Amino acid sequence: MTTILAIETSCDETAVAIVNNREVYSSVVASQIELHRMYGGVVPEEASRQHLLTINPCIDQALEEAKLSWNEIDGIAATVAPGLVGALMVGETAAKTLSIVHQKPFIGVHHLEGHIYATYLSEPNWKSPFLCLLVSGGHTSLIYVKDCGIYEQLGTTHDDAAGEAFDKVARLLKLGYPGGPIIDSLAKTGNPERFILPEGRVSLPEGGYHPYDSSFSGLKTAVLRLVERLKKEGHEPLPIADLAASFQATVARSLTKKTIACALDYGITHIAVGGGVAANSGLRKQLQEAAKEHNLIVHFPPIKLCTDNAAMIGCAACDHFNKGHLSSLKLGVKSRLGITEVMQLYSVNN
Ligand code: KG4
Ligand code: ZN
Repeated sequence: MTTILAIETSCDETAVAIVNNREVYSSVVASQIELHRMYGGVVPEEASRQHLLTINPCIDQALEEAKLSWNEIDGIAATVAPGLVGALMVGETAAKTLSIVHQKPFIGVHHLEGHIYATYLSEPNWKSPFLCLLVSGGHTSLIYVKDCGIYEQLGTTHDDAAGEAFDKVARLLKLGYPGGPIIDSLAKTGNPERFILPEGRVSLPEGGYHPYDSSFSGLKTAVLRLVERLKKEGHEPLPIADLAASFQATVARSLTKKTIACALDYGITHIAVGGGVAANSGLRKQLQEAAKEHNLIVHFPPIKLCTDNAAMIGCAACDHFNKGHLSSLKLGVKSRLGITEVMQLYSVNN
């Protein structure tokens, strides 16, 4: 049984967790949302500074809540890619320092692999292979999960990520940051059929549309044009709830169609959803209904495991540790790294 202390600082959450394979002993998340809200988005320099202030208290709290001492920890993990470089470096440096001081192996983890592993924490009997719809602030991907570290990317976005689209539409509707949860709650009282919006398809050079790739920038622009038209026609105050509901239903429909088509085409029966947008109630409803219709099994982790946390990083790290995948202390952080390149993190040449 492997126990890992994991650190996640890739964006605007300072998170530390202690995980034993698929069991969470403690999970501390210090959110910086209040700090970034006044800027309307994440300010990288501020994020790094805040991680520095918060990381040590978070580590102490995680150990205290798990009631463990250092000699009961087998390894130290940190998210090393992708993410904001300055922010990643805070977690990486803390983890490497602990690894040297306490003489424990260091395991660098890919942030998106963490989101994939959130499903294992909430569904302990879940097994690969499965399809993961990964929808966060920076990514929209359909990933064929074959084994620990072995992934095939079947779909991606050509412009904005799903979460980014929620954040940008919320900004243009002057709703605040982060947009996803605000739009989600407003959509509950709105009419999702009031406005017809484009789902955002990606054309193929040979004609037709890419079956699994997304594009959300056209949808965002369509909302902008619609708002301009409504204002011009004197519809103020704007029908915010209907706008939110129509936008959310369009994103959910687009993601649902692509996910179901991909699962059916590849003969994959199990679908897991990960990333902040997996918290979205419209997506949860539409995808669950469509999966049922096609006899597919879909799993959404509980909301606290969908948004950024260190428990998911620890769970991925345990699996790598058990397979002997350890990282060199020379491994650096990377702002970008594809999910298919995860095994690079465990090469002795790093
Ligand atoms: O995975 P995550 O916590 O951080 C990244 O790795 O990006 O995802 C954050 C994103 C933000 O864009 C946020 O607006 C979105 O997830 N989000 C949601 C909801 N909760 C968070 N989007 C739609 N509906 C939600 N309920
Ligand atoms: Zn994330």
